[in-house]
Amino acid sequence: MVQGTPFLLLLCLALVASGFPFPKCVLTGTWINDLHSTMVIGAVDNGGNFNGVYHTAVTATSNKILKSPLKGSQHSANTKSQPTFGFTVNWNFSDSVTVFTGQCFVDKNGKEVLKTMWLLRSHADTIGDDWKATLVGTNVFRRTQHEKE
Ligand code: BTN
Repeated sequence: MVQGTPFLLLLCLALVASGFPFPKCVLTGTWINDLHSTMVIGAVDNGGNFNGVYHTAVTATSNKILKSPLKGSQHSANTKSQPTFGFTVNWNFSDSVTVFTGQCFVDKNGKEVLKTMWLLRSHADTIGDDWKATLVGTNVFRRTQHEKE
């Protein structure tokens, strides 16, 4: 019993260090949202920065949709189990930019989910058109089926 105590202590320390009992939500990977848009997020570096590629399923324009780069930042990299984050998509088939902000949660079934809000800024030809140049909305992202397997 006494001999087992250091082992149990080490086990407890290892569990706490791993974030137990809070499962971690990780941004890196492939995600799909409620509009069927997909995105791939690369590794989050020590400063919380990440890059990725966004493939929107819809557009406010009549242009042909192309995959577009995203750049983001996760708050408190690697310390929170359900981190907040933001990213910008610089659309390469329109004059617009979208900023997303949200939080990476683990739901009651243990599945990761990204709850986001976004602002889509379109190009206004005149300052008088500024009032109608920004759309706002929400998107919910889950890991793609492929990645869950
Ligand atoms: C554009 O239409 O100028 C660029 C594409 C914008 C797509 C928007 S961004 C917010 C919303 N979420 C998506 O996945 N797609 C749309």
